[in-house]
Amino acid sequence: MSQGKVKFTVAIDGPAAAGKGTISRAISETLGFAYLDTGLLYRAVGRRVLDGTPAVIAASTLRHRDIARNDLRTPEVAAAASEAAAIPDVRAALVNFQREFASRDGGAVLDGRDIGTVICPEADVKLFVTAGDVARAHRRWLELRASGNDIDEATVLSDIRARDARDAGRDAAPMIAANDAVQLDTSDMPVDEAIAAALLIVRKIWDAR
Ligand code: C5P
Repeated sequence: MSQGKVKFTVAIDGPAAAGKGTISRAISETLGFAYLDTGLLYRAVGRRVLDGTPAVIAASTLRHRDIARNDLRTPEVAAAASEAAAIPDVRAALVNFQREFASRDGGAVLDGRDIGTVICPEADVKLFVTAGDVARAHRRWLELRASGNDIDEATVLSDIRARDARDAGRDAAPMIAANDAVQLDTSDMPVDEAIAAALLIVRKIWDAR
């Protein structure tokens, strides 16, 4: 099937460093779908909060250049993003942009925490990608070290645990698998295996259309 005018939404949710981004990029590149990392929206809000802008104002005046910043992938920004993300008005300010992205022609992959539950409850494919927190912390620690951050692994693990608890425990769009999501546990999966498993699920539904 050619992507042309077709609308097809893939929703990928799960906790930090479970492999959502890697899987989403692979789906996007293989099937030619557009990709939105919705965590970047919340990170951009968190960054602006750290710079002194109130969270709801930061979210409702978010510009493309805020999302394109190259200093959003730090633990401090992740924590600020998670705090801002618990505020209902912050989330509400970001809904339309995400829904418009999801309904573009040619297919879209969105990853985050509430894509299959709140942003795109009608998504064609829903995946909930998980992994144990020790495995996730190790991956995130390797990434941070590769980018020059010499944070210790125990700190990364406690940051991830705090963020998981806040994201899953908040009242507004908590991180939770949609009832109809396929769960993919990547704890013991090499990256290429996780990508292959996700692609198989997406292709089955895409090819049936
Ligand atoms: O995915 P990432 O780790 O970059 O997301 C940063 C934070 O943004 C998350 O910990 C979460 O609090 C928030 N977020 C969210 N809903 C999304 C995407 C991210 O609440 N759809």
